[in-house]
Amino acid sequence: MFSDFIAKHEGIQVRNLLLIVLSILLLMGFRASIPDYFPQPHHPLPDARNDSMLIYLGKQLFHDPILSRDSSISCASCHSQYNAFAHSDHPLSHGINDRIGKRNAPALMNLAWLDEFMWDGGSFSLEAQTLVPLTTDHEMDNDPNIIVTKLQQHSEYPEYFLLTFGDTTITIARILRAIATFERTLISKNAKYDSVMQGIATFTDQESRGYALFKQHCNTCHTEPLFTNGSFANNGLPIDTVLNDVGRFAITHDSSDIRHFKVPTLRNLLYSFPYMHDGRFKRLRDVIKHYSQNIDNEDELSDILFSLRLSDNQETDLLAFLHALTDKTFIFNASYSTYKVTQ
Ligand code: HEC
Ligand code: HEC
Repeated sequence: MFSDFIAKHEGIQVRNLLLIVLSILLLMGFRASIPDYFPQPHHPLPDARNDSMLIYLGKQLFHDPILSRDSSISCASCHSQYNAFAHSDHPLSHGINDRIGKRNAPALMNLAWLDEFMWDGGSFSLEAQTLVPLTTDHEMDNDPNIIVTKLQQHSEYPEYFLLTFGDTTITIARILRAIATFERTLISKNAKYDSVMQGIATFTDQESRGYALFKQHCNTCHTEPLFTNGSFANNGLPIDTVLNDVGRFAITHDSSDIRHFKVPTLRNLLYSFPYMHDGRFKRLRDVIKHYSQNIDNEDELSDILFSLRLSDNQETDLLAFLHALTDKTFIFNASYSTYKVTQ
C-alpha cells in the first residue's frame, strides 16, 4: 500500500510517511476488545485494521489548530490527553482570542457508549457535536468552507485524505467522521477498579469501604463500569447566579429538566479537574464535601441525595475508591498523541 502511494506521490516527505507508518503501527495496538463486565457499546467501535488511517487522520485533525479561524487553537487545546481530554487550568473554557465560554470542558472517554453529548445533551452524535466547537464564536470560530479550503491548501492533508478515502476530496462530512472515529478509540478500561473486576487485584480495606458507600449513594447516576448512566440529573449544586445556566431545560423546555446536567463519568477524575459543568470545584475533596454537606435541597432532588450525610472517615473512604478509577494507561497511551502537522 505505501510503496504504491510513494510511487504515485513522490512529493510526500519521507519523514511524514515514516511518522504515518509508525503511528498506524501504534494504532494497530488499539484493541477494540472490551472487558466482559462492560455493556455493549451503543455505536460500533473503530476497527483497528480497517479504520487505522481514518483514526490517524482524526487524531491529526483533533490536535491541529488549523481548524480554528486564526489557527491558534485545536480540539486538544481544551481537551488535553493529560487531563483525560478535559482542560485543567481554568473553570470555563477559553477559545480563540481568549474568549471565555460558558462551561467547563468535559473529559472525553468511552464515548461510544453515549447517545447524547454536552452538559445539556444538545448534540445527538459525535459527528454532529464536532461541528459545534468548529463554528462557535467563543471556541474555534471558523466556517466549514474555510476549514475545507485551508486543508485543501495544506501541504499534507490532501495526501492524508487520499490515503484514507481513496481520493483527495476534502469535505466537512469526512472531517467530522474522522474526528468522531478517533474519539471513539478513547477507551478507558484499565483502572485499578478494572483489575479488581477481572480478579487480578484486590481493593484495600479503605477502597472496599469506599466502594460500598459508592454503590449505596452514587451508583444510581454514576453507574459502574462506565460510571455514568448517560442521563441528566440535578445533583444539588447551589445555583450560580452569574451564569444562571438552566442546563437541559434549554434543550427540552420541560420544567422538570431545569438545572439538570449530564451525569459525567468518574473515571480519571484525578486528571480531569476542575469539576462540574461550570468547573466550580478544583479539588475532589470539595466535590465530596458538596455531596456530604452542601447539597442544595431547594430543588426537587432524588431521595438518594436528599438524605446524604457522610462522616469525615467515610469521605476519605469514598475518595480512596474514586482514586481507584484512575487509568494511567489511558492518560499516557501513546497512540492517542501526535506530532504537530501545521508548520
Ligand atoms: C474552547 C474550548 C473547546 C474547544 C476548542 C473544543 N471543545 Fe469540546 N467542549 C468544550 C466545552 C466547554 C464542552 C461542553 C459544552 C457544553 O456542554 O455546552 C465541550 C464538549 C465536547 C464534547 C461532549 C462530550 C460529552 O461527554 O458530552 C465533545 C465530544 C467534544 N467537546 C469534542 C470536541 C472536539 C472534537 C473539538 C474540536 C473540533 C472540540 N471539542 C473543541 C470545550 C472545547
Ligand atoms: C442524582 C444523580 C447523582 C448522584 C446520586 C450522584 N451524582 Fe455525582 N454528578 C451528577 C451530575 C448530574 C453531575 C454533574 C453536575 C453539574 O455539573 O452540574 C455530577 C458530578 C459529579 C462529579 C464531577 C465530575 C466532573 O467530571 O466534573 C463528581 C466527582 C461526582 N459527581 C461524584 C459523585 C459521588 C462521589 C456521588 C455519591 C456520593 C455522586 N456523585 C452522586 C449526578 C449524581
